[in-house]
Amino acid sequence: MTPKMLSVRHNLVDQRGGQGEREGASVLSALGEMAITLAHEMRNLLGSVELCADILAVELKDDMQRRDLAQTLIEGVYALNGIVTNLLTFAHPCRPRFAQVALHAVLDEAIVCGGYALKEKRITLVKKYAPADPVTCADRELLKHVFLNLILNAVQAMPEGRHLTISTRVSGGKSSTRRTEVRVEDAGMGIRPEHLDRIFEPFFTTKARGTGLGLALVRRILDQHRAAIQVESELGRGTIFTIVFPDPTKVMKVR
Ligand SMILES: Nc1ncnc2c1ncn2[C@@H]1O[C@H](COP(=O)(O)OP(=O)(O)O)[C@@H](O)[C@H]1O
Ligand SMILES: [Mg+2]
Repeated sequence: MTPKMLSVRHNLVDQRGGQGEREGASVLSALGEMAITLAHEMRNLLGSVELCADILAVELKDDMQRRDLAQTLIEGVYALNGIVTNLLTFAHPCRPRFAQVALHAVLDEAIVCGGYALKEKRITLVKKYAPADPVTCADRELLKHVFLNLILNAVQAMPEGRHLTISTRVSGGKSSTRRTEVRVEDAGMGIRPEHLDRIFEPFFTTKARGTGLGLALVRRILDQHRAAIQVESELGRGTIFTIVFPDPTKVMKVR
């Protein structure tokens, strides 16, 4: 969708100069509005499809083969929902609602949401959580969205049967240097060095069916939380995304 939207704009600019540019911009914004309306419609319809598939799965509980079909339907709906949610969150950035959040619980929720993808690829999840659940000041839903995007990217980058490691660490004790780290480490294809600078750009994707919105959103949400994200990657070996949360009291001050 995006490359087409951009090419509409360029054609108009090339052919008609300034006026074309203005019209091009309004075509672009109309297309954007339409995409958002469609995304809202899709989300509503997906809710109905999910409900029907849930009922089918229950009705077919004694028929293993057909129940698996209903399950596949539900998982497809989850995947589509993720894409639509990325689009809507990107189009309408919301003000985070900060509260004290226990990170492990949010990570676990994101893992449940990505469960279909992990299962499909037979990925083994390795959790290496810090002994105490670190508490940070965050918007729970937005943070879940961050973790889910990183988990899905990791799964998509890996062949079947690999390991995905999610770890947390608190360092710096009680002083103002205290920070909490969340690491998502995959054993996937890695990222080309020339792409590393671009992966957080909106619409940058190397996937045939990618939207390129996931990491752009991740970065925007983490900026709102005054958290940093680092990426280390080796081609053919895997990728590590590390999120560093500042001391929760600092986030409270800037919100
Ligand atoms: N864990 C990862 N391993 C390899 N490449 C990755 C990983 N995470 C992100 N990428 C790269 O960053 C690009 C942008 O990711 P993202 O913004 O989530 O968009 P999308 O997943 O729709 O492509 C991906 O297309 C891929 O090239
Ligand atoms: Mg993605």
